[in-house]
Amino acid sequence: MAQARLQRHATGCGASAVVAGPPSGSGSGSVALSRVEPDPASGAGHDRRSSAERRSGGSPVPVSEQGNAPGAKGDAESRDAGSGDARSAEQAVVDLEGVHFRWRGSGPDVLVLDRLRVARGERLFIEGPSGSGKSTLLGLLAGVTVPRLGSVRVLGQSLEALDGPGRDHFRAHHIGYIFQMFNLIPYLSIIENVTLPCRFSVKRRERARRRSADLATEARRLLGHLDLADPELLARPVNELSVGQQQRVAAARALMGSPEILIADEPTSSLDADRRQAFVRLLFEECAEAGSTLIFVSHDASLEPLFDRTLRLAEVNAAGAAKPAG
Ligand SMILES: Nc1ncnc2c1ncn2[C@@H]1O[C@H](COP(=O)(O)OP(=O)(O)OP(=O)(O)O)[C@@H](O)[C@H]1O
Ligand SMILES: [Mg+2]
Repeated sequence: MAQARLQRHATGCGASAVVAGPPSGSGSGSVALSRVEPDPASGAGHDRRSSAERRSGGSPVPVSEQGNAPGAKGDAESRDAGSGDARSAEQAVVDLEGVHFRWRGSGPDVLVLDRLRVARGERLFIEGPSGSGKSTLLGLLAGVTVPRLGSVRVLGQSLEALDGPGRDHFRAHHIGYIFQMFNLIPYLSIIENVTLPCRFSVKRRERARRRSADLATEARRLLGHLDLADPELLARPVNELSVGQQQRVAAARALMGSPEILIADEPTSSLDADRRQAFVRLLFEECAEAGSTLIFVSHDASLEPLFDRTLRLAEVNAAGAAKPAG
């Protein structure tokens, strides 16, 4: 039970959830994290080709059909392609159709989206005013929540066909999620927080070990790229870090084990300009290396041109509840 709670919090429960302390029965605050889940989603959309193959002739989809291929800047039209309907279903890593979502049974819909496809390796920038449904959309894409109508397919898997634990497993294997509120686990060390996804996913553990000698070394590599290499700092409890430092720990955790999809909910909101650049550079490098797809929400318009495409959520979300008043 404690494992499931920890997993949901760190890899995908509601962004506002708070873990007040260690799971019951864990005693001193150091929680045993020995149980490793089997790999029920093995092979679901995982691309075993090298990143070079993905970017050129090795791709089953001709580069000319890949729209804004990763690394290639799209033209203005394709960068602002709204719901992304130019992408074929076969190459879509994310394929969302006819989605209606409301938070409460009797409440209004807050998200109504006709179509959203995201291609493998694409870097999608999502912008929109506060309350327009950005975090709600990310939660649906990650299977944290499910729509009342419509379908969300990720890596070929219909998320609505899975139950809650099934979606948790799927997310743990395939999706790195940087939460708007970070969702760090306060009773785990920084390194334990960063390596946590590898406790829940064989896939991610194996991939992390391919990159570094062991999980802690891989965690330090990622943290080092985010200017968090100081051993004194790494020895501190996470709740004694600044907000910007916590945000970077959350980013390293999401990158751990090279998930196929990286979802980032305003991940640079607490970073200064220099660190913001370094952060986005790391995100791009790690995603390019692993062939990962990046879905990035931000209010920072200066970052938008770096991405392959922009989704302006307020323009495509047909939910009346999400429209700004007046
Ligand atoms: N857990 C929740 N329960 C009920 N309503 C919610 C919940 N989370 C969000 N909402 C509502 O859903 C709508 C969309 O919220 P959401 O958090 O997706 O917006 P956002 O675009 O991410 O905003 P911000 O830029 O402020 O993060 C808002 O009207 C919000 O009040
Ligand atoms: Mg939000």
